[in-house]
Amino acid sequence: MHVIAFTSRKGGSGKSTLCAHLSVHADAPDAPTLLIDCDPQGSLTLWHEIRQTATPILVRCKARGLPDLLEAALHDGIQWVMIDTPPHNTAEIAAAMRVADLTVIPFRPAVFDIAAVAATLDLARAIGKTVLPVINAAPARRGANAAHVVTEARKAVLAMKATAWSGQITTRAAFAHALASGQAVGEFEPGSSAAVEMGDLWQEARRALGLKEGQVR
Ligand SMILES: Nc1ncnc2c1ncn2[C@@H]1O[C@H](COP(=O)(O)OP(=O)(O)OP(=O)(O)O)[C@@H](O)[C@H]1O
Ligand SMILES: [Mg+2]
Repeated sequence: MHVIAFTSRKGGSGKSTLCAHLSVHADAPDAPTLLIDCDPQGSLTLWHEIRQTATPILVRCKARGLPDLLEAALHDGIQWVMIDTPPHNTAEIAAAMRVADLTVIPFRPAVFDIAAVAATLDLARAIGKTVLPVINAAPARRGANAAHVVTEARKAVLAMKATAWSGQITTRAAFAHALASGQAVGEFEPGSSAAVEMGDLWQEARRALGLKEGQVR
């Protein structure tokens, strides 16, 4: 069983968006996936209520309940667990990081958002977790070139002695529209640029966990 936490000390960075989307990538008949909504705002829960299919399954839980919940998930044969967290509750974020194999840290390429990455990284380092900082809501590339703000954001993270994912999740209405209809972009607009970006991020998350192409477990 692999556990991924989505954390950032900044609100609105894309935690729930990435968590919902990657859970749909992960979920398969031979890889049942559990979403855990630890955020009292319940964004992920709302998405799940709108969703027409029951999978991936979702449970709401306070972070202190995570160890017991994960033990039960392991017992039930769950293969992937994705945990969404609130932005401002350090104890909840730390508890989710502690049980995770990988901590995805989404951030927007803007000055206040980049500053907040440092605080989230410090917490992950104190707990000793593998991190994957992900630039979200980025301006579109021009050809092969990333926007200047994206390049600068990447440098800023390097200065924090971390490496952001080499790709980006672009600002695209399709991400918000897909979630509003209880879907992921791969379901809402299969083959779209948005779907391709999210697929690339899923491959990167798997690599960060040490999984090879095509390997489920
Ligand atoms: N790549 C994107 N393109 C377009 N809209 C996006 C993108 N990423 C996030 N959004 C929108 O930005 C808003 C915030 O995203 P989201 O709820 O995923 O952030 P969050 O980090 O979970 O926020 P919170 O800290 O409040 O839980 C949402 O309305 C979402 O639809
Ligand atoms: Mg959220």
